[in-house]
Amino acid sequence: MGPKGDSFEKAQGGEPVSVPFQPPSHIDRPPVRISVAEGYRLWSQTYDLEPNPLLTLEFRTLSHKLEGLSGKIFLDVGCGTGRWMVEAVSRRARTIGLDLCREMLLVAAGKSHLTDRLVQADIQCLPLRAEIADMVMCSFCLGYIRPVDQVLAELCRVTRHGGTVLVSDFHPGAHQAGWRRSFRSGSDVFEIESYCHTADQLVDAGRMAGMRLKQVLEPGLGEPERHIMRGAGKMDLLEQVSGIPAVLIIEWQRG
Ligand SMILES: C[S@@+](CC[C@H](N)C(=O)[O-])C[C@H]1O[C@@H](n2cnc3c(N)ncnc32)[C@H](O)[C@@H]1O
Repeated sequence: MGPKGDSFEKAQGGEPVSVPFQPPSHIDRPPVRISVAEGYRLWSQTYDLEPNPLLTLEFRTLSHKLEGLSGKIFLDVGCGTGRWMVEAVSRRARTIGLDLCREMLLVAAGKSHLTDRLVQADIQCLPLRAEIADMVMCSFCLGYIRPVDQVLAELCRVTRHGGTVLVSDFHPGAHQAGWRRSFRSGSDVFEIESYCHTADQLVDAGRMAGMRLKQVLEPGLGEPERHIMRGAGKMDLLEQVSGIPAVLIIEWQRG
């Protein structure tokens, strides 16, 4: 059953800042650490309103993987506001999105063709039958789960044999370099509690779940993200982080 209603209050003045965290001079206070539940309840109001360079980088790296999905079943696990669902629907995939945060789902529900395709659920225990999906996407969500073994077992379980599982997340190297999962709301910067999983940990967990590793990608911010960084007044950061992997992407095939 999906969430009812598709209205939510438009956000006022929030700005995603999922880039290396160095407080700009106009922000005096340190980031406020908040839980995942509280963080996304708050961030839902502004998540879609400002361009985010990490999401842009991930999208341009991964979107071609959705080619040929017409008529196939696409699951977006940890779908948030339905970013990947919109793409899958535009490619005529039969699409379902699941997320724990009601407020994020309500934003997704306001988008064309997504309303009846959303389920509030924990990705550690998906309310779906086995082998239902041709492709499963889990985008920027695993970092909120510890440990990840159970989640990867769930992603594998709901994928048909020969189907594809795609996982992306904030790169652990970027975390080491001081980047944080943070966003601005009003005059405050919030940092959402998260965990860092290395590529090796995820690859091992995928193998234990019974999946065949196809590809590991570790793209860094580049020229296409330049205008976003410029718009956010963060050109100095772009120079600082060029060459550092920003997103970790892993693709498996279910055996
Ligand atoms: C950074 S957002 C990513 C949303 C979307 N995948 C995207 O890439 O735009 C992370 C999402 O993971 C969801 N999430 C975190 N923990 C979860 C869990 N245990 N089960 C389901 N969703 C979860 C949050 O509610 C949030 O919507």
